[in-house]
Amino acid sequence: MTVVTRAARGGDVESLARFWYENMNHRPGLEGWRTIAHSPWYERPPNHGWIAVEEGRIVGAMALLHSNRKLKGRNEKLCNIGSLYVLKSFRGRGLAKSIARESTADETVTYLGIDAAPQTRAVLEPPDVGFRILDDSRFVWRPQTPPRGDDMELAIGDRVDRRRWPPQDRRLLDDHRPLGMLPLTARAAGRECRLILWVRNKSSSTLYYEIFYASDYECLGTMAGGIADRLIGDGGVLAVDARFFCNPPPDADKELLRQPRHYKSSRLAPADIDLLYCEVPLLGLKIS
Ligand SMILES: CC(C)(COP(=O)(O)OP(=O)(O)OC[C@H]1O[C@@H](n2cnc3c(N)ncnc32)[C@H](O)[C@@H]1OP(=O)(O)O)[C@@H](O)C(=O)NCCC(=O)NCCS
Repeated sequence: MTVVTRAARGGDVESLARFWYENMNHRPGLEGWRTIAHSPWYERPPNHGWIAVEEGRIVGAMALLHSNRKLKGRNEKLCNIGSLYVLKSFRGRGLAKSIARESTADETVTYLGIDAAPQTRAVLEPPDVGFRILDDSRFVWRPQTPPRGDDMELAIGDRVDRRRWPPQDRRLLDDHRPLGMLPLTARAAGRECRLILWVRNKSSSTLYYEIFYASDYECLGTMAGGIADRLIGDGGVLAVDARFFCNPPPDADKELLRQPRHYKSSRLAPADIDLLYCEVPLLGLKIS
């Protein structure tokens, strides 16, 4: 019997969500998987993922979470890839590679993979699929006393006044706040930095305040120590991917990511690509 690989359409959303729920992981619930097949921020996306189908039955799939962003003053199309799964009896015949290659062939789109296990790397990195390493390390700041940055003011979570965020950032906040992400505004020395964070314990039990978005990374570099001191208790760290800094920021330690991030783009440089609009908060994932 022939297996066909193709884009998932609106009519595939329910069976695709069930495919992931029944075969990959029960934990996000069927409703969680529905959000992966149809993200809450995009009513009519170009597709709902990519699937391998035999006789009308899904036997393999990859999530494609599309978003539109204004980056570097241009409208850019982005797409987070994830949740790659092929049924056991269909493995080892190139299906995952076909799905990954065909679904990421649009050169007007920047594709991003956040947390690639070794078996996913084997699918993404061959030249005919074409993903490259976006980042393999992060900077972390541990809280200190007395707090750094005397004149720093923070607004965190519900205390962030969304009306004071510029319209472009307000949209990011409105799309991510319902997903359980934490907004923060830091002000010091007449400058402002707006952040959107994902807060999760990693397996090491350290609580990571992971920055998925910063309005200004140069400003973040100077403020991060003071933010960590006011935001985070013992055993926590403030963290951000290393690609956003040309030089190591002050007071930061560098850590290797257990699993790297990947990208495929003919339009954007690594430092233009942040972690928003991805599957992580939809599935409640810890990232490595
Ligand atoms: C990972 C997975 C999607 C691969 O599917 P597949 O259709 O068998 O993969 P392909 O046949 O297209 O193989 C592509 C490449 O990956 C390699 N590969 C496949 N499974 C691998 C594994 N477990 N470890 C290392 N490499 C692996 C293959 O050898 C092949 O490399 P090659 O082109 O150099 O020969 C499938 O094994 C799976 O669903 N696993 C469980 C879910 C999972 O781990 N998902 C990824 C993390 S979310």
